[in-house]
Amino acid sequence: MKLDIIPVKWTDEGVAMLDQRLLPGEEKWLMLRTYNDVADGIKDMVVRGAPAIGVSAAYGVALGAKQFVGTTVEDLGEEIEYICEVLAATRPTAVNLFWAIERMKETFLLAKSEGRTVSEIKQILAAEAKSIHDEDIESQRLIAQYGGGLLEDNSSVLTHCNAGALATGGVWGTALGVIRGAVEQGKNIAVIADETRPYLQGARLTAWELHKDDIPVTLITDNMSGHLMKKGRVQAVVVGSDRIAANGDVANKIGTYMVAVLAKRHNIPFYVAAPLSTIDKNCPTGDDIPIEERNTREITHVRDIQLAPDGIGVSNYAFDVTPNELVTAIITEKGVARAPYTESLRKQFDL
Ligand code: MRU
Repeated sequence: MKLDIIPVKWTDEGVAMLDQRLLPGEEKWLMLRTYNDVADGIKDMVVRGAPAIGVSAAYGVALGAKQFVGTTVEDLGEEIEYICEVLAATRPTAVNLFWAIERMKETFLLAKSEGRTVSEIKQILAAEAKSIHDEDIESQRLIAQYGGGLLEDNSSVLTHCNAGALATGGVWGTALGVIRGAVEQGKNIAVIADETRPYLQGARLTAWELHKDDIPVTLITDNMSGHLMKKGRVQAVVVGSDRIAANGDVANKIGTYMVAVLAKRHNIPFYVAAPLSTIDKNCPTGDDIPIEERNTREITHVRDIQLAPDGIGVSNYAFDVTPNELVTAIITEKGVARAPYTESLRKQFDL
């Protein structure tokens, strides 16, 4: 049964977010009442996952505009510029954040050029954020349809991190959308979820979502996938992405590259599912994608338990880049793109 999980909602009081830091133990909603709260929510991982971050940022801009107390469109424009800077400084890798902010800025400029009043612009921005959210859900539905067709009946699919409803506007998800799509097409799919150290999105979020949807899921530690592939227990890999370069190089959660290399070694298809808002036409290759480095305490501690001695060096890269030659196909809301990606991805924008 598909449960329609929607992790971010626009309300009269502010932006409501399901606090993903507490899952799976607690299902608690937070009400974020200012754009600064929304920015903190993104930074602190109340919400995470590229499309969900984009939707949240759009709502953050709309909320900041709604609370603007000035009277001129000029002043509102300056306020929106500042709000966008605050939101853009939250997380660097997921391009959906910058894409959504840009779309909100363009919407403001268009409304301004049409001579709209401050109060009209506030409503237009709220409606635009809602459209970004609705379009995202619709994109995931199409990704589910196209991607679901690629998975074989009675197969076992490995995924890394959480690219599910929680990571998007909701309902389907990207990688988990492909799985949900295949299940809706009547296929029997079992999922193998990498726990995804250090933040454990796989263990905490993917397992939670799939279990709620009654899709069979087996949790493994990140270092088990090679063994399972060698044993013939994985028929496909499906992951999401935080940013896809114009040449098809894919940034996704740290550890994705390792999985892609293993998949190649074992002749297992490696699929990437992402909406067009994740494709960065201005980024020629994966080398140009900024990779977030996070607090090393995520590695040295699990909650308050210390796992490593003080005084050692620790690296905490949140994402890695999988070169396009390891990617079997990229599934977007426009269909299935295959190599050479520079051409096939460009074509998707024109469809
Ligand atoms: O650090 P996170 O949890 O925001 O990272 C999320 C991922 O890497 C997801 O796989 C990616 O955003 C795709 S989500 C549809």
